[in-house]
Formats: sequence, structure tokens, C-alpha cells
Amino acid sequence: MLRIVVMVSGGGTNLQAIIDGVKNGTITNTEIAGVISNNRNAYALERAEKSGIPNRCVSPKDYESREIFNEKLLEAVDEYSPDLIVLAGFLVVIPPAMIERYRNRMINIHPSLIPSFCGKGYYGLKVHEAALERGVKVVGATVHFVDEGTDTGPIILQKAVETQQGDTPEVLQRRVMEQAEWIILPRAIDLIANGKVRVEGRRTVIEE
Ligand code: GAR
Repeated sequence: MLRIVVMVSGGGTNLQAIIDGVKNGTITNTEIAGVISNNRNAYALERAEKSGIPNRCVSPKDYESREIFNEKLLEAVDEYSPDLIVLAGFLVVIPPAMIERYRNRMINIHPSLIPSFCGKGYYGLKVHEAALERGVKVVGATVHFVDEGTDTGPIILQKAVETQQGDTPEVLQRRVMEQAEWIILPRAIDLIANGKVRVEGRRTVIEE
């Protein structure tokens, strides 16, 4: 059984897709050991609670410095003894010590086709605003391992989605979630849980 910890900051629709996937068997061999949020009011925490999944908040507001917050965050993660950390809309800079300890054992969902619309400042709705502003016709989502850079780690899965005339950032965000994120994040977890993802340098090799 792959023990995962899911880290969230907001609504938690990706967390919900994971919970549903584990329940309905789309994700096999996997147990959600816990959910951690930096934001006490994140609806994602309620989703965890409703499904009986251990959850807690570690907020930077509760600590004197970023260094102490980073230590507490890593401690909270370690307490669940995860095999894999899943960043599902976790909008916090990941402490370097956590990247080091969980190298190739931490994945992130990003709402664009990396290397487009990613890196510093590209998160949440901002990604979709930028895509519409640039007028691209194809957008999508990416699941990747987390390394020291922002959205630079080895790519595991990607899925493309078409934009439509008259899209707003909100409408496009929802389509990217429905048609890409909620599909490829559960699939990536299932692949990892079944030992089908290998990292080779900057890339991954998937054995399906
Ligand atoms: C998702 O669209 C996710 O891809 C994005 O935040 C949203 C969280 O939604 N993540 C990033 O932008 C990371 N750079 P959710 O809380 O409903 O899952």
C-alpha cells in the first residue's frame, strides 16, 4: 500500500478526485494517510473530515519565522510516514529540506502544459488569465515530480484541453480541472502506487 499525504490550500477539488479515485478503485494500492493545509479555512480540510481522513492545518501565521514554519511543516508531513507527498493546489513554497528528503517522492499538479505558463507567479487562476491573454488555443495540465525549481521537475503525465471562444479564466479553469487535472492526478498516483514510474535524469519513463 502506498501511503500518501495530500497537501492543499483551497477548495480541494483535486483532493476530492483522489478521495473518489481511492473509493471507486481508479486508484489502487493506495491509502490517504493524511491531509495537510496551510490555510485553516480551506474547504479541502472539510472534505478530508467528511471522508474520515486525518487532517491538520500548519499555518505560517502560527509561527514567528518562516524557518520555524518550514520545520513544523516537515514534522507534520513526517508524522504520517508517507511514501508519496501529493501537492494538490498547495500554494506554499516547499522548504528545501522537504524537497531533499522526499526527492522523487513528491508530485505536484500544475494547471498548464509545462513548460508553458509555469514558474514563479503562475498559480491558480493567474495561469488561465495568462493563457487567455496570450490567446493560446490549447491549454492543459501537468503532473510532475517536485525538485528545487518552480515547476521544473520530471514530468509524469500531461493532458491537453482546448480553449473556447468567450472563455473567462474561471470557465477555463473549470474545464482544465474537469478534462485534465481530475483525471491525470489520480492516474499518476495509481501508476506510482503500482511501481510503473521511473525517473531517469530529467525525465520519467512510464511502464503501462
Ligand atoms: C488547481 O487548479 C491546481 O492545478 C492549482 O491550484 C488549483 C487548486 O484547486 N495549482 C497550482 O496552480 C500550483 N502551481 P483545488 O484546491 O480545487 O484542487
